[in-house]
Amino acid sequence: MANLGYPFTLGVASGEPAPDGVIIWTRLAPDPLGLDPGRPGGMPRQEVPVRWQVAEDQGFSKIVRQGTAHAQHAWGHSVHVRVDGLRPGREYFYRFSADAPFATPDNPATSPVGRTRTAPAADSGAAVSFAVVSCQRFEHGYYTAHRHLAVERPDVVFHLGDYIYEYGRPAAPAPGRYVRPLEAPARECTTLHDYRNRYAKYRMDGDLRAAHAAAPWVTTWDDHEVEDNYAGTRPADGSDPAAFARRRTAAYRAYFEHLPLRIRPDGDGLQMYRWRPYGTVADFLVLDSRQHRTGTDMLGPAQEQWLINRLRSSRARWKVLVQPLFFAERIFPGPPPAVGRDAWDAFKEQRARIMAAAGEGLVVLSGDVHNHWAGELAFDGTGNSLGAEFVCSSVSSAPSGTDNAAVLAANPHLKYFDGHRGYLTGTVTRDRFEVSFRTVDFVDRPGAPVSTSAVFGVEGGRLRRLDV
Ligand SMILES: [Fe+2]
Repeated sequence: MANLGYPFTLGVASGEPAPDGVIIWTRLAPDPLGLDPGRPGGMPRQEVPVRWQVAEDQGFSKIVRQGTAHAQHAWGHSVHVRVDGLRPGREYFYRFSADAPFATPDNPATSPVGRTRTAPAADSGAAVSFAVVSCQRFEHGYYTAHRHLAVERPDVVFHLGDYIYEYGRPAAPAPGRYVRPLEAPARECTTLHDYRNRYAKYRMDGDLRAAHAAAPWVTTWDDHEVEDNYAGTRPADGSDPAAFARRRTAAYRAYFEHLPLRIRPDGDGLQMYRWRPYGTVADFLVLDSRQHRTGTDMLGPAQEQWLINRLRSSRARWKVLVQPLFFAERIFPGPPPAVGRDAWDAFKEQRARIMAAAGEGLVVLSGDVHNHWAGELAFDGTGNSLGAEFVCSSVSSAPSGTDNAAVLAANPHLKYFDGHRGYLTGTVTRDRFEVSFRTVDFVDRPGAPVSTSAVFGVEGGRLRRLDV
């Protein structure tokens, strides 16, 4: 067979850190935007062995685990290796390699090296560092936030959804917003091949690859991984349900193929809600606000029961919801006053049940709205906080215009707004949940420096600004 070219064009990733292991990921794609749906990534219809190694050092002199995975055509030649037997709370490095039909004497087909980190042991009280990202519409801007995040090497990165946007190129792109071209043909994604090539286009971005290679990721999705504003099995536009079911199944499959998940799609669904414990410090509870949604039920009954049970039984200092949508009440001053429809304000009863089950130590991480916010969730009858929320701005997606000063004035529990693109970093100890709002000044060209616009901490049951 002819040499196919370098296969690790989409980089490497790791995710789902546990105390004894992680998932390491790559996908073979010598021609990442290939137009033949029968040869995704330019790969032939055959299984390909891929060697993997995990080491304690970046130079791979202390290899602790290695093996061979089999990249399958049916899964877009993605590779998800469950590495176990690792030590808790430790840094590791990993890489992949492949032989024919890729290798040549001067191009040995070895992947870049990724850095990852296992979760701490169950009884560990060690501090946890994390980062949060959300909403990375490719054509809206450069991934400068990811470039800066990669340098920070947190213990874990949470992605809160809108990893891709399914849109095609609009007939008349808004001036100033359409700064990078999509892959050709730039049509709206509906088929498995469309979604695969959209993920590939995003992953060809070096800044995004750097962020994946720098730390393990834990991801959840919002709507644009499938279609704007879909809910459960229903398309937002009332179109043919059978066609939407095929589209959703294809989109979920492509999501799995490009992210370091532990669990494969099963039939037309993909198990997304899950628990990632970090010692005695934090239980991160990752929610799926899309797949099981019905009219007044954001999570579906099975997920809600799982969450309530987890919140009630958690012994960690902080119970952290990792999910896309604005959780606290946010009234938009009128007339008439309004609340967000694609936010927890439209699911008030379920929100109240979650807060009641969580009790003290609840923190919510959110995305979706393309701006930074910080606030208290609510107060009990004696004025004590029932928890805090940190809303992460977008990596690149343009925000819609709202009068944020008026929203802050109408919602005194909301304490902070910043309208730049960026990400969050945080440090969690048993004493304090601290979050820094990281911002970049521009995304319409590469190279913006990063700065910290505010630091907030939850301490002694209250949200406090720490940098002024
Ligand atoms: Fe978004």
